[in-house]
Amino acid sequence: MRQMIAGNWKMNGSLKGLASYAGALARGVTGVDLLICPPFPLIGPLITALGSTPVMVGAQDCAVERAGAHTGDVSAELLAEIGARYVILGHSERRADHAETSSLVRDKARGAMAAGLAPIICVGETLSQREAGEAETVVRAQLAGSLPEEFAQVGALGQAGALGQAGALRLIAYEPVWAIGTGKTPTEADIAAMHATIRAALQKQLGEAGATMRILYGGSVKPSNAGALLRIPEVGGALIGGASLLAEDFLVIAAAAAQK
Ligand code: PGA
Repeated sequence: MRQMIAGNWKMNGSLKGLASYAGALARGVTGVDLLICPPFPLIGPLITALGSTPVMVGAQDCAVERAGAHTGDVSAELLAEIGARYVILGHSERRADHAETSSLVRDKARGAMAAGLAPIICVGETLSQREAGEAETVVRAQLAGSLPEEFAQVGALGQAGALGQAGALRLIAYEPVWAIGTGKTPTEADIAAMHATIRAALQKQLGEAGATMRILYGGSVKPSNAGALLRIPEVGGALIGGASLLAEDFLVIAAAAAQK
């Protein structure tokens, strides 16, 4: 399956830089799915700036509710209406900063799918959990709690179902919390072991759909390490924070994925 390289801009980016960023990506890479998730107000402008290029745009979160009195929240329906295709859910920064639980993430994923957005559900252990030998247990529990049973259904994705096979439209991102933004990454053996654990858990939980879902790696992926990380078995792409902010860096990583 083609790899996905997804950029998570977090609370970065501005209108000013969009045209040159989009222009650089437009001259970019084939053979890989590219996705950029900017802050909410930049989703529409980035879609416009990207024009007919195949680069997709997504959100970094969405509300559980469809509409109503929820000040500050943004619904999956509205995100889909303005052209977002994917939504990152349960990122460790949201789990930590906004006390998001796995069951909330699961409800958001269910709502996102009903609206036609493809969820990218993030899981990952903290450093103390890894040092205590609990990394796999923690990640398995996050998967068990965060994935809605709809993930097992083929064709449950509304309008986004047109994008391709079910497995391409429900993604997991394994992001060890201690590797995010720190420049540290797990060893290739540790990433391979965790991705194998996640694959086995997905198949047990979801059957056939779990066999084809892409599992992204995230945490300090950069141009210098992307080639090695993207070759690890069961790594189906990457979720990139800091290195997605510069189009040149993002494109080097995308090119590494396309060569895989
Ligand atoms: P990073 O962030 O690439 O800056 O480590 C990854 C992420 O949080 O998705």
